[in-house]
Amino acid sequence: MKLEGKTALITGAARGIGLEFARAYIAEGATVALADINAEAVAKAAATLGPRAVAVQMDVTRQDSIDAGFADAISKMGKLDILVNNAALFTAAPIAEITRADYDKLFAVNVAGTLFCMQAAARHMIARGKGGKIINMASQAGRRGEGLVAVYCATKAAVISLTQSAGLNLISHGINVNAIAPGVVDGEHWDGVDAFFAKYEGKAPGQKKREVGAAVPFGRMGTAADLTGMAVFLATPDADYIVAQCFGVDGGNWMA
Ligand SMILES: NC(=O)c1ccc[n+]([C@@H]2O[C@H](COP(=O)([O-])OP(=O)(O)OC[C@H]3O[C@@H](n4cnc5c(N)ncnc54)[C@H](O)[C@@H]3O)[C@@H](O)[C@H]2O)c1
Repeated sequence: MKLEGKTALITGAARGIGLEFARAYIAEGATVALADINAEAVAKAAATLGPRAVAVQMDVTRQDSIDAGFADAISKMGKLDILVNNAALFTAAPIAEITRADYDKLFAVNVAGTLFCMQAAARHMIARGKGGKIINMASQAGRRGEGLVAVYCATKAAVISLTQSAGLNLISHGINVNAIAPGVVDGEHWDGVDAFFAKYEGKAPGQKKREVGAAVPFGRMGTAADLTGMAVFLATPDADYIVAQCFGVDGGNWMA
């Protein structure tokens, strides 16, 4: 077991990649706080994972909710060794149709949420003096622009940048900050992405998904389970000398 005795908080863990990471961390011996804005969904999700799963209601856009959520998780688990900043929203629109409301919402969740959850974890880890691991969910979308996806791409580029700065700032405390950049991962998130492309590119429902899957060099879309190896590795002492990096786990979609 690679994470025996460790504790983790994963944001946006009520479904999708965050929930799969929680399952993988628990299988490796960790206790995990699944944090999500959707209290009912996260309670149901945590209940499927057994006694080492703790449900925490947290809206990463609100400082009071971050403070209360971290305090709740740390009091239930006793300490925090690992943070995965996974909560995010997606939107798509041509430049001429982007709304300020969508821009504000995405930057609040994907960027400010990531930064201030890193800060909450770092304050605890620094005070405790035993280091820690912080893993931010970036995206291949943060490596380059996409015509219909300007705002989401910009938020994920910001996540990569925050990972670099926080990684450099926190390593002197023994806290490793790194990121994972998935490609296209099947799940409810991508059902929403597919609907945007159906609207703006006139595609039939499901068509964009089939196209992006066929275009992956590996030969198919990713699954959340394809990402767990990297998520576990970055949380272990094997990754102690890895600082401020962003790793593509994308079937060959992007070469950094
Ligand atoms: N699915 C993909 O193809 C893909 C590709 C690249 C990167 N990613 C990234 O991986 C991560 C997980 O993606 P996913 O596909 O599992 O997404 P998802 O949409 O299935 O899950 C996101 C979760 O975040 C939660 N959430 C939303 N706003 C929140 C808030 N304000 N506070 C707390 N929780 C909130 C949602 O309730 C949901 O449970 C995201 O950061 C995403 O950008 C996904």
